[in-house]
Amino acid sequence: MKPVCMVIGAGAGIGGHVAKRFAAEGYHVVLCRRSNVEGLESLVNDIERDGGSANGYLLDASQDNAIETRIAQVEAEIGPIEVLLYNLGAQIGNRSLEQTSYKAFELGWRLATFGLFRAASVVCPLMASRGKGVILVTSATAAMRGNAGQHSHAAAMGGRRLLCQSLNAEYARQGIHVVHVLIDGAVDAPDTLGKMLGAAVFEELRAKHGGDKDGLLLPEKIADTYFHLAQQHRSAWTHELDLRAHTDLAWWNH
Ligand SMILES: NC(=O)c1ccc[n+]([C@@H]2O[C@H](COP(=O)([O-])OP(=O)(O)OC[C@H]3O[C@@H](n4cnc5c(N)ncnc54)[C@H](OP(=O)(O)O)[C@@H]3O)[C@@H](O)[C@H]2O)c1
Repeated sequence: MKPVCMVIGAGAGIGGHVAKRFAAEGYHVVLCRRSNVEGLESLVNDIERDGGSANGYLLDASQDNAIETRIAQVEAEIGPIEVLLYNLGAQIGNRSLEQTSYKAFELGWRLATFGLFRAASVVCPLMASRGKGVILVTSATAAMRGNAGQHSHAAAMGGRRLLCQSLNAEYARQGIHVVHVLIDGAVDAPDTLGKMLGAAVFEELRAKHGGDKDGLLLPEKIADTYFHLAQQHRSAWTHELDLRAHTDLAWWNH
């Protein structure tokens, strides 16, 4: 039986590329995303065409029990989850305090922080009973630094970073490796950044910084790091790591 890698938040950027990378390395991948059924099918088809195996599901992580039910179904019908990628962000663009409604603030926390807590509540006891498991958590600059217009995003991502530390403290000795991966810059991700900026601005950004300029983080290169993290020996685990393009200043320099 193939080891299972489950991705919560599998778009055409980091989530989809990590899924493709793990599938190419012999994992069965389970892709979950909120709404884009064509995008989901296209990722599954790409993986199968390249000789891998995958299932795809629509899952809205903001709905009660959606995460818990899907994890339970995957464990019961597909196999034990060896690697879980929690890839949901909570970026809503820059919004002043006045423009940040209670609802927007709470939704950020629901997706970035509470969703990871819910996933961990179900999967950690299962992984611990098997003595192994990896939880990769994609994060953002806002996990390290608050800023004007980032009230919801920074609070949610900062909380998530400390949740990762707490999970590590409680579960590392039981064989569970939790990694908080800080993505410190813009990713070539059409389903998230592309939608937030709009097609014209995103294409301008790509033309100026993307391609061989390597000024946008390329999700297929990010996926190399994720795969490596999941294979680390437990005598030398990484718990926190950051990635950025060579043209970007690190978060602590600006
Ligand atoms: N993109 C960037 O520039 C950037 C920069 C720094 C950090 N990050 C981090 O990278 C991660 C996202 O990776 P990515 O940007 O490359 O995106 P991606 O993997 O291309 O796509 C993520 C997918 O998450 C899905 N999603 C959104 N809300 C959801 C929900 N409520 N339930 C289930 N799925 C949901 C969306 O699916 P549908 O399309 O089907 O709705 C989206 O396509 C986040 O943790 C973010 O903080 C991204």
